[in-house]
This record gives sequence, C-alpha cells and structure tokens, in this order.
Amino acid sequence: MFSSPVLLFALSSLAAAQKCKLQFDGRVPSNSALTGFDAANQLFSSANVLGAGLKFSQLLKLPAITGSLFDTNTIPVEVTISDASIFNGQTGFRRAELIPASNSGTDPSTQGVKTVHFSLMKDGQRPLNLSHEYQLAFLESADFSTNQVVVKTGTILGQNTANPDTLQVIGNVNKGATVLFSTPFAAGVFHNFGLALDFNKLTTQVFFSTGNNPLKAVTQAVANDVSGQGQFHFGVLKKGVNGQGDITKNGVQEPNINEGIIFGGIFEEDSSANCVSLAP
Ligand SMILES: *[C@@H]1O[C@H](CO)[C@@H](O)[C@H](O)[C@H]1NC(C)=O
Repeated sequence: MFSSPVLLFALSSLAAAQKCKLQFDGRVPSNSALTGFDAANQLFSSANVLGAGLKFSQLLKLPAITGSLFDTNTIPVEVTISDASIFNGQTGFRRAELIPASNSGTDPSTQGVKTVHFSLMKDGQRPLNLSHEYQLAFLESADFSTNQVVVKTGTILGQNTANPDTLQVIGNVNKGATVLFSTPFAAGVFHNFGLALDFNKLTTQVFFSTGNNPLKAVTQAVANDVSGQGQFHFGVLKKGVNGQGDITKNGVQEPNINEGIIFGGIFEEDSSANCVSLAP
C-alpha cells in the first residue's frame, strides 16, 4: 500500500518529465558546424535576421559550455552583433536573430495553445551595453505591427528602468506593454523561460528557472493579446539611444561593438492538452 507522500512524489516527477508534442525544435545537435547555418537547414532560417552581406557563420558561435536545462543531447548557440549588424537599412538598430525554420509567420506555431521554450546566458567576453534597450526573444506579428510578447533587457525606451541589468517579459507592446515578469540577469548561469501562449483565449503564462532547476510557473495565465500570428526571434536586437521619430533609422549606436547572448534549448511544444514540460 502506498503512503501518500510517495504517491505525491511519483505524480510530481511524472508531471516534471512529461513529453509534449513538439511544434518546432531549434536545439542544436552537438556535431553541428557553423557553416550549416548558412544554407537551408532544419533548425533556423538561413536568410533572416542578420546584417546585410553577412552569413550566420560569421556571427554565431558554439561556445564550449555546459548545455542548458533542455539541452540534454544538444549544445548552446551564441548570437553576436557587430557594427555590421545592420538589417534592411535599419541604421538605428544593430541586430541578429534566429527564426525557427518552420515558422513562416502563418504556421501552427502561433495557433492553438503552445509553449515556447528558450534559455539565455550572458557572455562575459561580449557584454551588452545596458545604456541601450535590447530585445532578446520576441514574437513579432505577421503584419510587423507589434510584438505580442518580448523579453527585454537594458534601459528600456519609454520605461523608467530601475535596474537595467534585468530580464523583463513584456506583453503586447501596442496594448500597454505590461511587464508580466522580471528577474535579475545574473552572470554565468542560464535563465530558462517557458512562455505558454493561448492563441484562442489570448493569454500568456510565464514559467521560469535558472540553471538546471525545473521550470516553475511565475505568473498565472494573464490576458495578453497574442493574436496576429508571426515569427519568433531569438537573438540580440539593440536599439539606439535618443532616437527621434522612426527608431529603426534613428538613434545613437556607438562603434566598435562586440556583444553577444548565448541561447540554449529553443523549442516549442503543443500545450493544447495542458502539457508543459518543466524539465527534460
Ligand atoms: C554605451 O552606450 C552609450 C550610449 O550609446 C555610450 O555613450 C557609451 O560609450 C557606451 N559604452 C561603451 C562601453 O561602449
């Protein structure tokens, strides 16, 4: 006969280890070469988003560090920006981002109920300049009119940022840009996010942990307009300072930058049956 503590333990470990159906998988196989990101591949778009004339192999790195929570057989990938990271004439930005290969903008990754997972770590050799605003992970609507959810750090434009060395999960930027969750951006450790997005009920729930700790819900499923489909971006989008008008074109970007963020465990799972992986 089971004692109730044993039964509870068994149920919670089952929940933590459950496997949900995958929608996309951007986890990088450990035998990957950087040149594989320059041609069509299973993981990420080889065409977007990067500076004009660049190849992904020039800006991605495969740092020799231990993988993130969900990288059991896969490895982290770093996205870096330089002075050459000017995409599509956007001189007010420096940016490079990975977009999942299957995420066309009108695909099922932005329909139903999905949880997008990713882990972020600083690179001590390539620090960000926290006088600037950075977007590190975001969903941009198919008509490019908004970001329905975005993880930012640094000094956020239009916000009185108390401590720029913070990761902030912000809801739809055209519908109030509500801060859903924020946490210190510590050095030398992965920050693991799960964003449960209900594209029917228009809600977002944030799951979070650091290091190898299983994810925990840090918010309820709160109202957030995630309609409009679009594409998930994982990388570094650095905005200029003191930009007037169209900030894609205006704002100060100091030269000679060498900045990066390390990503691990990028994938999305189907949460239509309430399945959210808290651990691999
Ligand atoms: C950080 O950015 C600000 C604003 O562009 C600039 O004045 C400052 O020189 C930068 N710091 C470094 C270390 O590049």
